[in-house]
Formats: sequence, C-alpha cells, structure tokens
Amino acid sequence: MKPKVFLTRRLPPAVMSRLAETTELRAHLADRPATAAELAAGVAGCDALLCNITDRIDAAVLEAGAPTLRVVANFGVGFNNIDVAAATTRKIPVTNTPGVLTDATADLAFALLLATARRLGEGERLVRARQWTGWEPMQMLGADVSGATLGLIGFGRIGRALAKRARAFDLKLIYWNRTRLSPAEEAETGAVYRPKEDVLAAADFVSLHVAYTPDTHHLIDAAALARMKPTAILINTARGPVVDEAALAAALRNGTIGGAGLDVFEREPQLDPGLFGLENAVLVPHLGSATIGTRTKMGMIAVDNLLAVCGGQRPPNCVNPQVLAG
Ligand code: DGY
Repeated sequence: MKPKVFLTRRLPPAVMSRLAETTELRAHLADRPATAAELAAGVAGCDALLCNITDRIDAAVLEAGAPTLRVVANFGVGFNNIDVAAATTRKIPVTNTPGVLTDATADLAFALLLATARRLGEGERLVRARQWTGWEPMQMLGADVSGATLGLIGFGRIGRALAKRARAFDLKLIYWNRTRLSPAEEAETGAVYRPKEDVLAAADFVSLHVAYTPDTHHLIDAAALARMKPTAILINTARGPVVDEAALAAALRNGTIGGAGLDVFEREPQLDPGLFGLENAVLVPHLGSATIGTRTKMGMIAVDNLLAVCGGQRPPNCVNPQVLAG
C-alpha cells in the first residue's frame, strides 16, 4: 500500500513525479503557504507530512494528523518551523535535508559578501535609474576583499564551505563555534579559533552560520554590533531571528557597522522598514538553497526520509532519533 502524503507546496518536477509514483498524494498547490486550517485539514488521515520552512508545524497540526501521522519530513535543513518537542512526545520522527544545500548556500553567502563589499546593489540601482554620468576616480569605492579577515560565527558544513571559497580569495579566517574543532580540522580549514567577542571585534566580514534555537535568538544584538568594526560587513544566510533586525537597521544607519548582506529576515516576508532605504544593505529573498539542482536534491531527500519511515526503516536524516526504535 502506498503511504498517504500531504505536501504543502509544489516541489521541482522530478520530485513531484516521484511522489506521484510512490505515494498517494494530497497536495496544497496554491501559490502561497497553507494556512493553519489548511495544514490541519490536509494532514488529517495521512501517514506523512512533507512540509517546508514556512509552514508552522505545531502541536495542533500534529494533533490533526493523529492517529495516522507517522513522519514529518521537512523540505529544508533548518527545522525551527516545527515543534520538535511536541513531535517527540507523540513519537513522530522529524526529518530534514542536510548536506545537499551546503554549496548553494555557501555560494550565496560569498555572493552577498562580494556584492556588499563592492556596492553592487547601489551601483545597479544607479545605472537602472539612468543616473550614471560616467567613470569617476572616487565613485562608489568599496571594501577590499583579498587580504581582509572573515569571521565565521558557527562553523558547521556551510561555514566550512564558505571558508573554502574565502581561502581562494585570500581572506584570513577566524571562527567561533559552540564546539571547537580538532587541531587537524582547524589545520584543514585554515581557520583560527577565537572567542565570539574577539571574532566580532577583529573581522572585516562576519558571516553567520548557526542554527536558530532559543540560545541563538538575537545572538547579534546591539551590543554585538557595537563590538564590530565601523567598516565591518555582516552576512546572514542562516536564520533571520539570529539578528536583532531593528538594532541592525539602526547600526547600518548610524555607521556602527559598514554594511550587511542579508538573505534571511526576522519576520519573513516582512522586513524592518528601516532596512529598505539603506544603500549599505544588500537584501535578497531567502535564496540560499534556490537552485534547481539543490531544490531537487532536497525534495528527493525529503521523500527518501518519509518513504523510509513509512516502510518501517530508519530515515537517513532524523532530528529526533530518540523516537526511533533500536
Ligand atoms: C533551509 O533549508 O533551512 C534553507 O533555509 C532553505 O533555503
């Protein structure tokens, strides 16, 4: 018997075909996120929920899936949209899609670093507004990238992939991570460990690569921003609420820091209104994993995870493995 699956948004064609072949599919295909009521109605009677990072999967949704719901497969590596504790209480495995979006996200982080340093957003706006009057010796001078110091806050897969790209641009690397790497790993990455406050104070570019948890809420607040150099550029491709966005807008406006390249925001898709008018901020709409290859791989992994659970197997990527037997 094919498992009954509720899918909350359309995924790339290859993933849709696989779902159609291997599952009894019910899907919310509207071009907007499902509402709480649509999530609850959709999941009722299903074995699996294939959701994404904009769906809030709380105790009420899990309750609506009871007693049939056996797995929540998130289309995303981050899973702060899911009440994992509530799923664990119900012995429902929650899965995610790590690994496959590492390179795409690191590419975007480096693109934001370059775009912010070299004022690409500002330059593009000038040209498109037909206000460019010609080359000038002092026009839009940006920050030097080669030889500068990149500080990584969080040094997991994506942070290390960014470090690899940064080495090719001759950046010096310093990092802070909850757990310090082994000497061999540090040698391999070329990054030097420093306490978080020192990384903030010493780096020309600070890039965030921590998961969003209660501990990392507003990790970058007004005090952290005040520690940074007035020329420093902050890059965030992790999660919006890791940064106090109102404090960041103020810091960018007041010159506390030099710029920011942001892919994620505290209350997506809303942004702090103060950000819109700032020329020193490059703002993009949560595009970290947005390549067709990456999104296809993410979908395939989410399907692998849910099919494994429904087939009585261990899912490859479970974030609450304590619910799995054996
Ligand atoms: C994730 O998977 O957590 C990403 O933010 C989606 O791009």
